[in-house]
Amino acid sequence: MEAMNSANLVALQLYQRKEGFFPFSELAARTRLDLRVLDVALEALRLRGHRLERSPIHGVRLIRPVRPDACLIEQGLETRRVGRNVICFDEVDSTNDIAADSARQPNADGLAVLAESQRQGRGRFGRQWLSPPGTNILMSVLLLDAEHHLAHEPLTIAGGLAVAEGIEEATGLWCELKWPNDVLLDGGKLSGVLVEVRQGGPGRCIVVGIGVNVNAAPPSHDLTGPATCLADSLGEPVERVEVARALLRRLDRWVEAVEAGDTEPLHARWLERCRMLNERLTVRSGDSVYAGRVLDVCPRNGLVLACDDGRRLHLPAEGATILT
Ligand code: BTN
Repeated sequence: MEAMNSANLVALQLYQRKEGFFPFSELAARTRLDLRVLDVALEALRLRGHRLERSPIHGVRLIRPVRPDACLIEQGLETRRVGRNVICFDEVDSTNDIAADSARQPNADGLAVLAESQRQGRGRFGRQWLSPPGTNILMSVLLLDAEHHLAHEPLTIAGGLAVAEGIEEATGLWCELKWPNDVLLDGGKLSGVLVEVRQGGPGRCIVVGIGVNVNAAPPSHDLTGPATCLADSLGEPVERVEVARALLRRLDRWVEAVEAGDTEPLHARWLERCRMLNERLTVRSGDSVYAGRVLDVCPRNGLVLACDDGRRLHLPAEGATILT
């Protein structure tokens, strides 16, 4: 097993102590570092973007909420595939691109890429995905799929459900799902999922890109509908590490189900959070527009619509958008 570096050892100890101070001598003993190495490790954490408070009497503590850090997200995650490796960046063009470009790296399958900000964060249909730096979860998970076991449709459904369940696990808040890829909280958009299929590197790969408004919703003039964030609902800043961990665990579970072709539980859990059944909708799918009543949301073949002209259609998530 690879030895954990000193800064990670210290970060984990401080993180577990929550708001409390760690006396330097106790921290040195717990991490088995001498005081000089401990000091270097603390400086490394500061350079990594962590805010530390030092007191000659009480020792040192991490100022909460902490920013996402790979060692804090990976520690004890125990997922089978998703998030076995995590990388956190300050700024990238798009985490989806970093994930896809990592496909040739060793142990790339399941890699989770997070960033504090994106220069060119994108949503569906080439829309921008905006997020003030250092506030939200901007994350992409890479899945290598040489055997073609993972399809776009069920992964879009799985991504949204993983977000909703992960948020419930981390915060207790109940989110609803709006087909194909929106996670809603109190009627506002909280999160979106962008699944992209790429060829290249070791073959087909899939990137599940997830944006969650944790501590800030984008400005309203940049949006097509109302948006919200977790902190507004909870009335206090929210630690992103625990949300990211819960989300990765849930995604791992649902990716495994999709890979095994066992989509019935995914279907059932998704519908529990969806209010669209029996609603009348107008949906654009490719170049066509359809109006009708929603019969089902099916992880394998998309939205099932009883059209006004009597047809029963399955509309795939890719290329579909709800107009009204
Ligand atoms: C949507 O609702 O249109 C999907 C939004 C997906 C945004 C995320 S943020 C992390 C990842 N990187 C991107 O450029 N987009 C996705």
